[in-house]
Amino acid sequence: MEIQRPRGTRDFLFKEMKERKNVESTIRQIFEIYGYNEIKTPIFEELSLFTTKSGEGIKDQIYHFQDKGGRDLALRPELTAPVARMYIKEFQKTPKPVKMYYFGSCFRYERPQKGRWRQFWQFGCELIGGKSPGSEAEIITMAAHCLEDLGLQNFEIHIGNLGILRNILNDTNISEDLQDQIMGIIDKGDVKELKTFLKDIDMDNDSKELLQKLIEMKGDSSIIKNVESIINCNKHACNALFELEELIKSLTAFGFSNYVVNLGIARGLDYYTGTVFEIYVPGLGAQKQICGGGTYNLIELFGGENVESTGFAFGFDRVMDALNKQKKSIEIEKSVKVFVAPIKSDMKLKAFEIAQKLRKKGIPTDVDVVGKKLKKILSYADSMGINYVVLVGARDIEKGKVTVKNMINGEQEIIDLENIADSIKSKLMN
Ligand code: HAM
Repeated sequence: MEIQRPRGTRDFLFKEMKERKNVESTIRQIFEIYGYNEIKTPIFEELSLFTTKSGEGIKDQIYHFQDKGGRDLALRPELTAPVARMYIKEFQKTPKPVKMYYFGSCFRYERPQKGRWRQFWQFGCELIGGKSPGSEAEIITMAAHCLEDLGLQNFEIHIGNLGILRNILNDTNISEDLQDQIMGIIDKGDVKELKTFLKDIDMDNDSKELLQKLIEMKGDSSIIKNVESIINCNKHACNALFELEELIKSLTAFGFSNYVVNLGIARGLDYYTGTVFEIYVPGLGAQKQICGGGTYNLIELFGGENVESTGFAFGFDRVMDALNKQKKSIEIEKSVKVFVAPIKSDMKLKAFEIAQKLRKKGIPTDVDVVGKKLKKILSYADSMGINYVVLVGARDIEKGKVTVKNMINGEQEIIDLENIADSIKSKLMN
């Protein structure tokens, strides 16, 4: 019986893992340049961490279970709530803002399709405490910086502010539940569905029209003036618009201007309160959103202090898809470049000793541990793309020497065993 991989999961083989590691290391470097430190939280959490804000309905979308002690647990669908939980216990006394980043897998019970997995990876960050247009702008600039350094082209950063739509909905006196449903439809970007939905609910026509107009407003910063004129009478929505204007000023100071103001961004998760942003890569189809984030207030909800925070997460798998789609060659270094081969089995232990000597000097080295014949070792080394094979023969060893074979041009050279590490290092550098 062949045992299958669970639906919506993948195996990553050598080449893909190397590419993923390279991308991971670029993002990690940029996050650290901006002053973020890495944290790690558990893969599973108490179920209530995810239902407290989002309600019981979210249980349909996540993996949850009872452990043997009857505790209700869930595999994390994202990392913002776990980070907020951790912050309350570990960081409340730390000077703010606290800047942290994470890289880890998340699990969502979704219908798998291209770019949508049941296990996927997020590379994200949270700036906790110190909400300001400056921190929001810095975080958006950092996201763009990562993608630029990865060489990704044509990505679009769309920025909005949930306060505009939320305050208009609040003024209509429809229930919070209905408001959430409307935001959910807006998040799907389905204008037709929104129109049909609004038709049947008890809301004044002016507000309905205003909502439909707003979610279609997209463009450069000049659209802010147009928005201002149409929401003139709503003071709170105007405050949110003012926040957006301030954010744009800070973005300009950070040298980032390649954004789209988009008032139709609603974000699927319920905890956002103000600035929101999403990054899309056209060409990835329905799952073109490679990043999402914004400003939220979760910590107070979990029993901590009232601190507003900002963060985002790259959908790491989608970033990889986007890079591959654009045929960005992700440099991968061969890890092992040297292979130590005993010419006969009596030199096996000597070969181990030499391999270890090279490894201790930091040279990635492999050695035959399974007792292959020399011919087989050479063809194996060739298939692995090894640059140099160290041939260990009894006669050479007696004289304190080994033979090094260049696998690219076939040339052989006898070198002193005593200086083997230095000789190989200088060959590898040439
Ligand atoms: P999110 O938009 O739900 O936000 O997820 C972030 C990113 O993860 C998405 O933009 C998408 O690229 C990727 N993603 C989501 N679901 C899947 C899936 N099933 N398969 C592959 N990729 C997926 C959050 O999770 C927030 N916690 C982000 C955040 C951090 N907000 C503030 N801080």
